[in-house]
Amino acid sequence: MAYDIKKPESRTLGQNRIRWAEQQMPVLRQIREHFAETQPLKGLRVAGCLHITSETACLARTLMAGGAELALCAANPLSTQDEVAAAMALDDGVSVYAYRDEDNKTYYRHIDQVLETQPQLIMDSGADLISELHKQHPGRVADVLGATEETTTGTARLSSMARKQILKFPVLAINHARSKYLFDNRYGTGQSTLDGLMRATNMLLAGKKLVICGYGWCGKGIAMRARGLGAIVIVVEINPIHALEAAMDGFLVQTIEQAAAQGDIFITATGALNVIRRSHFEQMKSGAMLCNAGHFNSEIEVQALEQMAEHKQELRPYLWSYQLGAKNLLLLAEGRLVNLACGEGHPASVMDMSFANQALALAHLALNHRSFVPRVYPIPDEIDEQVAHLKLQAMGIEIDQRTQEQLDYQGSWELGTR
Ligand code: ADE
Repeated sequence: MAYDIKKPESRTLGQNRIRWAEQQMPVLRQIREHFAETQPLKGLRVAGCLHITSETACLARTLMAGGAELALCAANPLSTQDEVAAAMALDDGVSVYAYRDEDNKTYYRHIDQVLETQPQLIMDSGADLISELHKQHPGRVADVLGATEETTTGTARLSSMARKQILKFPVLAINHARSKYLFDNRYGTGQSTLDGLMRATNMLLAGKKLVICGYGWCGKGIAMRARGLGAIVIVVEINPIHALEAAMDGFLVQTIEQAAAQGDIFITATGALNVIRRSHFEQMKSGAMLCNAGHFNSEIEVQALEQMAEHKQELRPYLWSYQLGAKNLLLLAEGRLVNLACGEGHPASVMDMSFANQALALAHLALNHRSFVPRVYPIPDEIDEQVAHLKLQAMGIEIDQRTQEQLDYQGSWELGTR
């Protein structure tokens, strides 16, 4: 078995971390037991481009229990937990090609190495693996039965490939599952983004003006949690509905031009390009801090910041100060995902639902791939609701069922005002 990892000596630490995550992933544990009996992925080569974390290791164990052969690379050069990569490669038999702080060349080499395993099923997060496969290895596309995509950003990229008729196999969009985005994007990103920011800086958020660009589910979660910590939250949006939601949720809504001069902390969560750019850096206060919670490092125009600065200095790990004349601006994690670079990403109990969707979606593709065409599909409602039911069960929460009378009423039209 081949792999490329950085810290083989840290495998025991990795195993301990995986065990801790596993305890908080009851849905995935249950699916794993079921997979061990039913072998839905038996003999299938599965490849994943995911953040290499203890939660991903629990997903890996589930898929392997279901009979898969697994190769993984990182979905971000800064998100890999090296000890977990070591445990997965050395103890669990996963072909892991990832280490923390890999440069871009290594990042793409690792993607290439995973593609060399000739996958039949793919799990992507951000769509780098699938786009590289189509660009660099068109001859290997025919092996692929189908794929899953974890993120909003990746789903948008793959939908663009489908519209342009470039996509050559079906993709199930995990992010469309309500049991994913309502929890992972909102509560996961909400908590882990602020956790990453606080671990990296040890800064007090109370009383700070915190500007959030994007009020999708991630932005909503960050805003809600930042308010809980006492920050004065300003939301920046381009979508009128989202902007209105933010206003009625009680946040200040401003343009980025208005917010640039006021903010103490800026967090991007849009999926868009250069949301905070040169003209905004020029207006910012000295000491303003910038970080990103969106999938790619494209939301803050770091290149412009590099060009504008006379010099830069690392103040703490992943925290750089850029000197621009008399003022300095602070950038976290090079503008990459702050929650995974400066923290540990989303907590296991929320990844439990996202990765339960992943595991069930792969099994669904393995069984039904012939009924799909090359397109991006939402996760089937049955899978989505199954995940929610299993999570509720694991949390010891019971819910009601409709009575027969209610079922009849719901399907009828005769009865109105009484
Ligand atoms: N994405 C966000 N948080 C994550 C985590 N803990 N593991 C894998 N992917 C993630």
